[in-house]
Amino acid sequence: MTSQAYLSQLFSLEGRVALVTGGSSGIGRSIAEALARAGASVVIAARREPELSSVVAELDASGCRSAWVSGDLSTRDGVRTAAEAAAAVFGEPDILVNSAGVNLRPPMNELTDEVWDTTMAVNLEAPYLLGQRFGPGMAERGFGRIIHITSQQAHRAFVQSGAYGVSKGALESLARSQAEAWSPHGVTCNTLVPGFVLTPLNARLADDPEQVAHLATRTMTGRNGLPDDFAGAAVFLASGAAGYVTGQSIFVDGGLSVH
Ligand SMILES: NC(=O)c1ccc[n+]([C@@H]2O[C@H](COP(=O)([O-])OP(=O)(O)OC[C@H]3O[C@@H](n4cnc5c(N)ncnc54)[C@H](OP(=O)(O)O)[C@@H]3O)[C@@H](O)[C@H]2O)c1
Repeated sequence: MTSQAYLSQLFSLEGRVALVTGGSSGIGRSIAEALARAGASVVIAARREPELSSVVAELDASGCRSAWVSGDLSTRDGVRTAAEAAAAVFGEPDILVNSAGVNLRPPMNELTDEVWDTTMAVNLEAPYLLGQRFGPGMAERGFGRIIHITSQQAHRAFVQSGAYGVSKGALESLARSQAEAWSPHGVTCNTLVPGFVLTPLNARLADDPEQVAHLATRTMTGRNGLPDDFAGAAVFLASGAAGYVTGQSIFVDGGLSVH
């Protein structure tokens, strides 16, 4: 067997269908591209259409098979509508990546019901509802991959974690509950845990060079994360090779969490 054939046997996503929420930006965008380049047909979902269509145009120009669905994942109806629209494109997904997220971090004393509700809706409830929609079908077909993107704040408080840290901690628990339910049927459920990654989500912090440099010193690699750092880990978790990896939180953080 050639090395190419061996790698394909382990990691190829040829014939798979993936849905990546938040696939129009940052970490989700890199993961969508990675899954598509590994052979999957990929639907990306988020709200803003220009960003969605430009990512899809780029992917299609490089020979990938992709499509977009615009939807607001902060309401139950929005999630359900987006899920049906996504499944209508290439069929029921084999791979679900929940990367859409909001990062609203007022001081605890100023945390409003609205911030709490939005954070829980987008970061936790949407992944739950999408899991409920697609997980049982994956289990019935005997193959599925659910990948959530959490945060170091699922494990430790860090700069006004507030509702955000709570949502990410619960998301890791959700992955374990889903893994318990569906792993016996070939559906693995895991989380990728970023440290600090330069994306539009934290543009405010990223605009402060001193803070950025300071955060880099807290890693072992000496640099902050980039969205493409998640490409290989996502392809691995989505692939056949990771069939015995489930319920896990995999840190992609340059060693931040163990430094
Ligand atoms: N960057 C970091 O340092 C870091 C660290 C830890 C964890 N994370 C997590 O990684 C994930 C991706 O973050 P990122 O840094 O890549 O952020 P990003 O570049 O800002 O991307 C966020 C994505 O979520 C979508 N989104 C936000 N609200 C939505 C809603 N209501 N409905 C549908 N889509 C929505 C956005 O598109 P629209 O705005 O067009 O809807 C966008 O595609 C998030 O879950 C985040 O919590 C990031």
